[in-house]
Amino acid sequence: MKLLAPAIVASLGLHAEAAQFVAHKNEVLGSKNDSCCSSLEVAGLKNIFYENDEQYKNRTASYWSVSAQLQPNCIVQPVSTEEVSTAVKTLGAQSNCKFAVRSGGHSTWAGSNNINDGVTLDLGLMNTTIYDEAANLARFQPGTRWGGVYGALEPYGVTVAGGRASSVGVAGFLTGGGNSFYTARRGFACDQVQNFEVVLADGEVVNANATSNSDLFTALKGGSFNFGIVTRYDVQTFAAGDLWGGVRVHDKNHTQQHVEAYTAWVDNVENYPDGSSIVFWSYLPAMKDIVIIAAYEDVAGNVAPAGFDKFMAIPALSDTTRKASHKNLTDELEQPTGYRDIWFTMTFKNDATVFKYIVDAHTKFVEAWKAISTDGDFITQCMFQAIPTTFAEHSKERGGNVMGLDLVKDNAVMLLFDIAVKGEETEVIAREALRAVTEEMQRFAASKDALVDWQYLNYADAYQDPLGSYGSANVAKIRAAAKKYDPKGMFQTQAPGGFKISKVKNSTFTKQEL
Ligand SMILES: Cc1cc2nc3c(=O)[nH]c(=O)nc-3n(C[C@H](O)[C@H](O)[C@H](O)COP(=O)(O)OP(=O)(O)OC[C@H]3O[C@@H](n4cnc5c(N)ncnc54)[C@H](O)[C@@H]3O)c2cc1C
Ligand SMILES: *[C@@H]1O[C@H](CO)[C@@H](O)[C@H](O)[C@H]1NC(C)=O
Ligand SMILES: *[C@@H]1O[C@H](CO)[C@@H](O)[C@H](O)[C@H]1NC(C)=O
Ligand SMILES: *[C@@H]1O[C@H](CO)[C@@H](O)[C@H](O)[C@H]1NC(C)=O
Ligand SMILES: *[C@@H]1O[C@H](CO)[C@@H](O)[C@H](O)[C@H]1NC(C)=O
Ligand SMILES: *[C@@H]1O[C@H](CO)[C@@H](O)[C@H](O)[C@H]1NC(C)=O
Repeated sequence: MKLLAPAIVASLGLHAEAAQFVAHKNEVLGSKNDSCCSSLEVAGLKNIFYENDEQYKNRTASYWSVSAQLQPNCIVQPVSTEEVSTAVKTLGAQSNCKFAVRSGGHSTWAGSNNINDGVTLDLGLMNTTIYDEAANLARFQPGTRWGGVYGALEPYGVTVAGGRASSVGVAGFLTGGGNSFYTARRGFACDQVQNFEVVLADGEVVNANATSNSDLFTALKGGSFNFGIVTRYDVQTFAAGDLWGGVRVHDKNHTQQHVEAYTAWVDNVENYPDGSSIVFWSYLPAMKDIVIIAAYEDVAGNVAPAGFDKFMAIPALSDTTRKASHKNLTDELEQPTGYRDIWFTMTFKNDATVFKYIVDAHTKFVEAWKAISTDGDFITQCMFQAIPTTFAEHSKERGGNVMGLDLVKDNAVMLLFDIAVKGEETEVIAREALRAVTEEMQRFAASKDALVDWQYLNYADAYQDPLGSYGSANVAKIRAAAKKYDPKGMFQTQAPGGFKISKVKNSTFTKQEL
């Protein structure tokens, strides 16, 4: 049995016997004997769970992607900003303590939000939302899911720009950008944040907003987990009645019509900022085939407005479009759990030829995967979302972020290309296959001078370099804020998960390299 290092015990002002007791208790319970977990117990944190605890199993199972369900030595669930600060101080005092931070747990890849042989700080119990009517703000904690935020605000007739599936966590979403039904109207979800409360590496709790720690404020809008742990988001609210929207499913023989309608849609966003349209080609095991699925929304509640005419003219197999609340529409857009999910992203100029090439690449990918899949149990999505230049204009009007979309001078389309599979070995093969097809599609786009060197962080695989794709000035801002607010680089070395600025090579991939 390893005892806590005497120095650590002393620094926490505790008796060696207490530490010994904790370590002994862990051993008796058959838990991994880990001094980092023990020292958190000694520091007074209450909700510490080990692998045999039911809560440990439940929290592990609650990661959206099975790939992210790792085996930390313990899962710690702080209940307050003070407890987060205590945890950071305690772990920071022991440079051998590696840890991960998890809020909603929707990041897909292993190591993005969890850690083997380390401590996972799980913010899931910090999930309250307070509506501050006088300030027009929703103040919510990082463990909140978007459905919880919308549900809390709905009785007041207001909402915020956030996730389009209600179970998605607010924390990773907001620090990674956040594409919502409202982006064409208001910019990204991160652009609606008025203040972040942040626990820094030394445990200090600060506000980051337009007038205080403004460099940190800007860097947190897209810069992800590189500066500190956000413990509260104060986000601008606005009045919202029912929206119009829903899901239409189509036979894949309507591919060409959708490609044409979507290309026209992207260039029309600036004329129709109340609209939102996501279209994807998806292989579903239940259908044993690819179908086209479209999610349409009008945030002003106009029913099937003219902006959707080209889409609505395409015959549908089913159609749920209706007037409904923001929360209700996001409850509908949930996606199945229980799979190992691999997500890759790329961005291209709004070009129908590239669009069609990608849809065809997806079809070939599905055929190839069907041939090698032993269980036939997999789901793909080849999903398109508009990234017109107006998005970045809204961001700029609201103070700016570090995502670098202002550098993209053409209306663009963002692709999320993903597969959900079962089995660890299958995941390895699927990731290699997806990486290869993504590179092939990027090469094709580059050959048409239509590749956009920007990657959306919240859709990127570990192989990709979204922070590097923000452009050198933004990379420099992120580096400077990380250095200033975390001078020892604790969140780079002790918390290695997620996209780390210290791993950015300073050169975004270029067309020449492909
Ligand atoms: C079903 C589904 C639907 C989605 N829909 C959308 C959508 O509509 N629009 C969109 O833009 N994206 C969407 N996403 C992507 C989503 O934005 C990301 O998965 C995002 O990371 C989710 O946030 P989270 O809190 O659940 O993340 P987590 O997985 O908990 O964390 C993500 C990253 O943030 C870090 N982190 C977590 N909490 C904190 C904190 N408090 N402070 C600092 N860093 C922290 C983690 O360490 C990790 O690196 C969707 C994802 C899924 C699975
Ligand atoms: C774990 O999840 C199960 C099934 O949902 C539930 O019945 C149980 O109460 C949960 N346990 C804890 C400790 O939350
Ligand atoms: C907050 O978390 C608790 C514990 O998991 C859960 O019971 C509750 O429903 C959550 N609240 C919201 C608003 O989601
Ligand atoms: C910005 O931070 C300062 C310092 O903590 C605080 O006094 C002020 O209220 C914050 N502003 C907003 C908009 O939250
Ligand atoms: C497309 O598929 C639908 C539904 O399967 C079918 O009714 C229709 O005839 C097909 N149209 C074409 C042009 O093949
Ligand atoms: C949306 O609201 C309707 C009407 O209240 C309800 O019948 C439906 O189940 C809700 N949909 C979802 C996905 O929650």
